[in-house]
Amino acid sequence: MTPATNIQDKPNGKAPRETVTITDNRTGKQYEIPITDGTIRAMDLRQIKVNDDDFGMMTYDPALMNTAATRSSITYIDGDKGILRYRGYPIEQLAEQSNYLETAYLILNGELPTPAQYKDWEYRIIHRTFLHENVKVLMQAFRYDAHPMGMFISTVAALSTYYPESSDIHDPENRLKQIIRLIAKTPTIAAFSYRHTRGLLYVYPDNDLSYTGNFLRMLDMMTQSKYEPDPVKTRALDVLFILHADHEQNCGTNAMRAIGSSHVDPYSAMAGAAAALYGPLHGGANEEVLRMLTQIGNIKNVPDFIERVKKGEGRLMGFGHRVYKNYDPRAKIIKRTADEVFKVTGVNPLLEIALELERIALQDEYFVKRKLYPNVDFYSGLIYQAMGFPVTFFPVLFAIPRTVGWLAQWQEMLNDPEQKIARPRQIYTGSAQRDYVPLAAR
Ligand code: ACO
Repeated sequence: MTPATNIQDKPNGKAPRETVTITDNRTGKQYEIPITDGTIRAMDLRQIKVNDDDFGMMTYDPALMNTAATRSSITYIDGDKGILRYRGYPIEQLAEQSNYLETAYLILNGELPTPAQYKDWEYRIIHRTFLHENVKVLMQAFRYDAHPMGMFISTVAALSTYYPESSDIHDPENRLKQIIRLIAKTPTIAAFSYRHTRGLLYVYPDNDLSYTGNFLRMLDMMTQSKYEPDPVKTRALDVLFILHADHEQNCGTNAMRAIGSSHVDPYSAMAGAAAALYGPLHGGANEEVLRMLTQIGNIKNVPDFIERVKKGEGRLMGFGHRVYKNYDPRAKIIKRTADEVFKVTGVNPLLEIALELERIALQDEYFVKRKLYPNVDFYSGLIYQAMGFPVTFFPVLFAIPRTVGWLAQWQEMLNDPEQKIARPRQIYTGSAQRDYVPLAAR
């Protein structure tokens, strides 16, 4: 771009130009940079140089706080208004009226399925739920007390060795095959990891049940001749899966896109995304919420705990979000779902502490000023615990439904002609060149 001259913001009262003008005070030069969709292209800044040897201006954005790394048509979030939509459909409507598999179809394909498309999609998923027997053997080799998320991540990565054709990521048909496999097999991997940590025999899938009904059966089945999944728990799991299916460019999805940008197979990329999700600041947060509530122990300890958080001694887990500066819409739905589940399971005794924490935090200046509201993880752990899941299983329960989000975003990235291998820049802060000193001379 050539430096602009005679720049006027509103020439002759005409509509303002969609550009921004930058004056480089080092050189006095001006640059007019186009604005598209409220953004400027970081590469447009490269022309800003002090001389020909200058590399050119870069942006510095640790943690990518203000950088759009992609265009995406999958999920829309308005963090200030607390809005979440998949492919334009409000999360509230999907949670109320859809089920996980239908929502997964929508997220992947952009449109809700017709009845025939849904039937075919459901059939294809349900009939790919079995794992290769050697995958089972591989999982059995984990230590008796292995964290189920560690097992989940490793097993997903191992699947690439069972499906070597998955490395052909440029063939859409082949991609779809792997996508279906992953959506179908993640509940089985998850259930095996759960049974493993409990020292129980692994239960094979039952293809006559729904996606979530089959999952509950693989977790709970003991000696019953016919296992009937509880309809309230099945529906609650479906709702939770819908809520967790995608969340635009979060840490795990960013990992999926970054790893996938090297054109590695989807199993390897997804293992990386799941590893990102494992962290306590991301999908591991609901596990931390439960630990926190247990540690607080009693409603009368809540004010003291809040004071400690305000002094910087730890965080109020399940509160705050990089994008939502309002009540996370998923947290609202989860709170309602929790009431349904508690009718069947009995109220989780930690609920009282959670409600009190929320009540105090929502009127405390520290939290109000920083726009810290409950996020999806604040109540999800309480439901999961009431349903009998151990806390170590919570991130796995997040990873199962997020599988479709990761894969949809991965596919979108591969189809986007503007995307290349993800390779950020740095500002080097280390030593200037210096000469090696042999060990004996140091
Ligand atoms: N408790 C107390 N203070 C908090 C919290 C919290 N949960 N979250 C943010 N703050 C404070 C920070 O200390 C900071 O205060 P300061 O300005 O005085 O330094 C301010 O609010 C801004 O916080 P940041 O860390 O800059 O916000 P960021 O956008 O980087 O972090 C995050 C977002 C990681 C989610 C954060 O709010 C947090 O750690 N929350 C607890 C963990 C959690 O619940 N994670 C789940 C997120 S949802 C998900 O991943 C599915």
